Amino acid sequence: MDLPFQQLNTQQPEREMGLRPDTFESFVGQEKTLERLKIMTSAAKARGDALGHILLSGPPGLGKTTLAHLLGHAMGTQVRVTAGPILEKPGDLAGLLTNLERGDILFIDEIHRLSRTVEEYLYTAMEDFCLDIMIDQGPNARSIRLTLPPFCLVGATTRTGMLTAPLRSRFTLQTRLDYYNPAELLHIALRTCQILKLPVVREGAQEVAKRARGTPRILNNLLYFARDYVQQQKAPALTQALAQKALGLLGIDDKGLDEQDKRLLATLANHPKGGPIGLKTLAVAIGEPEHTVEDVHEPFLLQAGYLQRTPQGRVITVLGLEVLGLRGAGAP
Ligand SMILES: Nc1ncnc2c1ncn2[C@@H]1O[C@H](COP(=O)(O)OP(=O)(O)O)[C@@H](O)[C@H]1O
Ligand SMILES: [Mg+2]
Repeated sequence: MDLPFQQLNTQQPEREMGLRPDTFESFVGQEKTLERLKIMTSAAKARGDALGHILLSGPPGLGKTTLAHLLGHAMGTQVRVTAGPILEKPGDLAGLLTNLERGDILFIDEIHRLSRTVEEYLYTAMEDFCLDIMIDQGPNARSIRLTLPPFCLVGATTRTGMLTAPLRSRFTLQTRLDYYNPAELLHIALRTCQILKLPVVREGAQEVAKRARGTPRILNNLLYFARDYVQQQKAPALTQALAQKALGLLGIDDKGLDEQDKRLLATLANHPKGGPIGLKTLAVAIGEPEHTVEDVHEPFLLQAGYLQRTPQGRVITVLGLEVLGLRGAGAP
């Protein structure tokens, strides 16, 4: 059978592999989540059990996929990777589950995008480690029960709110990843530079960390570009001045806002009262799908205090106006 995870194992770009921390010690930040995971892994290992099912949520690029692989490493088991939209039919899920070995981790990315039928099959698989599948059709149709080895489902989602309550309740642990603080990002930046063999001065790394929107994936991408820039400039190391120039070339300002963020804020600022503007209108205004606005742009702008959500829509804050170089509501 064509297994959905086989096509997917190539999904992780090669270059990510070296950068992904694969032990608890090398994973920076997210202390609460890490503590919970450490307790679960050491207890499960001591009992010789599979890990309980784990739901990781949070904005893109904060380490959900990384943690799923790290858990496999910590448990000494395989990690099978798939994603909600890829599991179209119950048969896709059955193929995956019946190929698991005892204690394996099944990682379902974007689990909020599972189809309802597949999701319902997952309930008994998660709860009782069995799968009732229908074979044949019409008068010969009958259901057979497949017993599965105990396994651990790790689900990742950018939207816990979009998961149905029955699915959510079947996870032993639900834990949310938050944006990283500047000290953590600096730590990750220095680690990435070392892996990329990019000589860096502390202020250079700090400059990039400051502008990475609290997100390690963005930080790493900025560092890839910075490395190219340093090389092209024939400079010996990434200094603060070089970091500023490189990031300037990428259109990223000193708060880490990119052009789309600023377009979004400007749309609100151009509204006579700074909003409220509905999600649909905003998405059209900046030419992004609604889910990108909700998953990528808004969470950061919200926590940075540039934007607020009201029942009527989104409004820009005074801080948001300041970031655009405008002051106070109604300013030109
Ligand atoms: N805590 C961390 N420490 C160091 N690097 C991290 C950390 N979290 C994420 N990264 C880096 O950020 C990148 C994106 O992480 P990933 O796990 O793919 O995010 P997500 O699955 O949440 O979108 C990875 O390549 C990894 O190198
Ligand atoms: Mg991921």
